Amino acid sequence: SSDSVIRIAIDGPSGAGKSTIAKAVAARLGIEYVDTGAMYRAVGYKMKREGIGPGEEERLEAALTDTEIDFQNGVICLDGEDVSGRIRTPEISEAASVYSAIPAVREKLVRAQREIGHRRSVVMDGRDIGTNVFPDAQFKFYLTADAEERARRRFLELQEKGGTETMEQVLEDIRQRDYNDTHRELNPLRKAEDAIEVDSTDMSPQEVIDAIYRRIKDGQN
Ligand code: DC
Repeated sequence: SSDSVIRIAIDGPSGAGKSTIAKAVAARLGIEYVDTGAMYRAVGYKMKREGIGPGEEERLEAALTDTEIDFQNGVICLDGEDVSGRIRTPEISEAASVYSAIPAVREKLVRAQREIGHRRSVVMDGRDIGTNVFPDAQFKFYLTADAEERARRRFLELQEKGGTETMEQVLEDIRQRDYNDTHRELNPLRKAEDAIEVDSTDMSPQEVIDAIYRRIKDGQN
């Protein structure tokens, strides 16, 4: 029954390590992980590919109607195609941030996210999970870190993939996205009042996973 469904929301700014942490916590609990950022990235990717600008309301809404976005078993599917390998670029990060501010985009994805979490236990990461998608989630975490530390982590990640961005560019991108995500009109990024804040600036990923897992286990007793 849906009474036994457990929902865990992990929100926070870009580059705080949400997906790594959320994925590991879900695996440890034996429940599903849903990366809502990947869903917004898939929309950004499609609109760029189709050449539809964020201001083209009618074309955008028509394209959205024809768009199928699904997150299953860790794979993001856009219209039946696995796009996991194509949405982790600085260009798509920027597009996701821009298109995610559009009400029609949020409406569609929030509805899909609520459907996914309706019958299944999930760890869901994003910006508005604890405040908007599942305000009644049993556990809410707000995972953050200093912008410089988040930029440093993102920079190392991009370097590993052969990226040519400088540290300054990455920091500037992070600051821009923080601004976009916290200033948009509809469901901006903010800590839910009842969320537990975890500042990972001086923590290893394993320490963060342990801390969150412990809070959940303690809270379930
Ligand atoms: O978590 P991420 O960096 O993959 O997210 C990409 C963008 O999507 C981010 O800039 C803001 C947006 N987003 C959102 O608006 N709401 C969510 N629940 C998740 C992501």
